Amino acid sequence: MRIRFAATQPEGDHALALPIRKGADFPASLPGLDAAGAALARAAAAAARFEGEVGATAELVVAEGQGARRIVLFGLGDRDDAVAWERAGGALAARLLTSGETRLVVDLSGSVPRASDAARLALGASLRSWRHDIYRTRLPEKSKPTLDEVVIVGAADGAEADWAQQNAVVEGVAFTRTLVSEPANVIYPESFVERCRHLADLGIEIEVLDRAAMEQLGMGALLGVSLGSAREPRLLVMRWDGTNGAEKTPVAFVGKGVTFDTGGISIKPAAGMEDMKWDMGGAGAVAGAMKALALRKAKAHVVGVCGLVENMPDGKAQRPGDIVTSMSGQTIEVINTDAEGRLVLCDAITWVQRKYAPKTIVDLATLTGAIIISLGNEYAGIFSNDDGLADTLIAAGKAAGDPLWRFPLGDAYNKLIDSPIADMKNIGARGGGSITAAQFIQRFVEDGVKWAHLDIAGMVWADKAGATWEKGATGFGVRLLDQFVADTLEG
Ligand code: BES
Ligand code: MN
Ligand code: ZN
Repeated sequence: MRIRFAATQPEGDHALALPIRKGADFPASLPGLDAAGAALARAAAAAARFEGEVGATAELVVAEGQGARRIVLFGLGDRDDAVAWERAGGALAARLLTSGETRLVVDLSGSVPRASDAARLALGASLRSWRHDIYRTRLPEKSKPTLDEVVIVGAADGAEADWAQQNAVVEGVAFTRTLVSEPANVIYPESFVERCRHLADLGIEIEVLDRAAMEQLGMGALLGVSLGSAREPRLLVMRWDGTNGAEKTPVAFVGKGVTFDTGGISIKPAAGMEDMKWDMGGAGAVAGAMKALALRKAKAHVVGVCGLVENMPDGKAQRPGDIVTSMSGQTIEVINTDAEGRLVLCDAITWVQRKYAPKTIVDLATLTGAIIISLGNEYAGIFSNDDGLADTLIAAGKAAGDPLWRFPLGDAYNKLIDSPIADMKNIGARGGGSITAAQFIQRFVEDGVKWAHLDIAGMVWADKAGATWEKGATGFGVRLLDQFVADTLEG
């Protein structure tokens, strides 16, 4: 979908969208409508019990000669809130995407929004109109998206420049959503890497470690997970330096990329197992964030690492009770082969510390079902060894629409993963499952490194549409990481 900015409403067929504030008197005149049109709009709003709530819309059809035939009133709420603009954009896209309209004109003249508000509306509309329809070969004509252009009229100066930045983020989110949506027969470690190759054209340096290279490095934890799979594992490294070498040390983002998680020999039940195609959502978010940063030429030095494996049961698969040696040298008793994400992350984290000595590491992983029990699908869990880093990430998440809620770490939890035979085991007791998983990862974080772990299991996939996503892959994490980079590295 194209976004365009214009000074006046264009000629030709389109739907016209007009903002309405909650609590304010209904405007006596509306841009592009004559007095009769405005009166009709007011009556339509009343009939629809539309009061300008954020995300609400009311629609009316007006007589020919008004410019537009279809008018959509959209609510902005009663607070001056950037997120309201984004949700409004999402609501408009949801309403009009398959309406038959090809062009939407949003006239903001008179409502004097900040430049960033108009861009935020465009962001919401773009994100909400993303779809993954490539496998629907019999989609009825009526269900196909028609809307392909949004023209924003009367935005403040600078809106277009602001949108160019936001558009980079939209592209990053879209990339992540595609990776997450694709089934595991299409996206597996090698093909995930291939899908990321184009990032090199944007100036991202790409390094790929194959199984032999990882064996050489002693990544026994990551490799143990992939033993049962016919698919070869990969470690994908994407580095973006927008500082021209001025910043020597990158910030590291590390993603869990289990392209399918059957559970391995500790096999999962059949019901719902198809969801485990999106067990690479952390890696997907890292790849999408790298794309966004490169597209908007972020003045930051960032390295993204994706641990890519498939977790399958097989004659060659690792068994419960097996002991593996991680790249760090620490040994792990694998009690449950379904607690595989931490085994992948620990070696990826060790690798990035050895290679780049980052001062800050943020890992993202669909790590535990327990985080969904705790937080449902409203927040991702954040665990951190540094209060400042946690606060910064939580603030970035709030601003960007990827909310985080902090959980505790501590010695008492850490003890729960001591093993009687090895340095640690890969699961704790039943309680606090998300926390013991985080404690496991923390054992691989070197002294002095600020680290945060985001358990995004509840956020990667949505069973119902939200303000800025259709049901399916949400792209969670991309906007958060992009915002975090903007807030902390580009200031
Ligand atoms: N990928 C799963 C976690 C998950 C579950 C993500 C549901 C999204 C939805 C992870 O690898 C896993 O299987 N975790 C186990 C850990 C347990 C064996 C300690 C879990 O949460 O049940
Ligand atoms: Mn698992
Ligand atoms: Zn998993």
